[in-house]
Amino acid sequence: MEQKTIGILTSGGDAPGMNAAVRAVVRTAIKKGFKVVGIERGYNGLINGELIEMDMRSVSDIIHRGGTVLYTARCKEFRELPGILKAKETCIQNNICGIVVIGGDGSFRGAADLSAQGIPCVGIPGTIDNDISCTEYTIGYDTAMNTAVEMVDKLRDTAQSHDRCSVVEVMGRHAGYIALNAGIACGATSIMVPEVKTDVEDVIKKIKISQQLGKHHYIIMVAEGIGNVEEIAKRIEAETGIESRGTVLGHVQRGGNPTVRDRVVASQMGYYAVELLEKGIGNRVIGLKDNKMVDYDIQEALKMKKPFEEDLFRIANDISF
Ligand code: F6P
Repeated sequence: MEQKTIGILTSGGDAPGMNAAVRAVVRTAIKKGFKVVGIERGYNGLINGELIEMDMRSVSDIIHRGGTVLYTARCKEFRELPGILKAKETCIQNNICGIVVIGGDGSFRGAADLSAQGIPCVGIPGTIDNDISCTEYTIGYDTAMNTAVEMVDKLRDTAQSHDRCSVVEVMGRHAGYIALNAGIACGATSIMVPEVKTDVEDVIKKIKISQQLGKHHYIIMVAEGIGNVEEIAKRIEAETGIESRGTVLGHVQRGGNPTVRDRVVASQMGYYAVELLEKGIGNRVIGLKDNKMVDYDIQEALKMKKPFEEDLFRIANDISF
């Protein structure tokens, strides 16, 4: 009988720690007697049959590397049935009995569609944004926050030297987790996130209060999507007289060597995903809850709502002047 094969792919935006998850999946599956194929460029690779056989050594020296050795992509073709059926055909041709999908919500929708076609898929949450509701933690988040903090510390040096206000945009698509946590860690005077309504006027008021308390330089942390940081900086300068600059940190936050936390969680999640597939369980997504691995039905996971860390937001606001 032909050896059963497990496929692994990374999909959507890359995140530091994805490689550590790939390594864990490959090694766990081989140890359990499976053959493993890496599927390149997300679902595109599944549609086009871009598969590479993985062995124990093919994942050596990647645990510490950012990005993803399997490449990643967003695949429009996979959103429609013909694309899904092509992918299913690749699985049948290659004896693939289960796939681990590392990515975000969009990638999990694809995993659910393929599971419905009889190919069990298990999702591992990998995105720097931490915006996946069914899990307290997503792979890449810790590294991205640390990168943001390192960058803002540098901005603070120059803001301090010039008595300026530095308005910094961090990533997060529609979520403020990076902005809030990096913001509190950088001692930002104000943090603007989509989850809590904050006008530029509120920020300006806060700066003026801090100014009266003797402050000379300011960090304003802004989540992506809130507004243009150059324009916010101009308004602050016009209304306070404090010279201000806008900086978009951008994709630098997506790269770099994963932190300990990202490597450890990625390894745990990769291991757990293979355990599920070994039992023939698919259409699941893994999450971290109270520091333990859990898994949910994908459709249920996609309906969940993640509470915003309001207490942390309040604390950040109350202690930064
Ligand atoms: O999901 C991660 C993320 O980095 C978001 O924070 C950002 O909005 C988006 O991806 C940018 O994606 P890309 O540049 O790959 O289109």
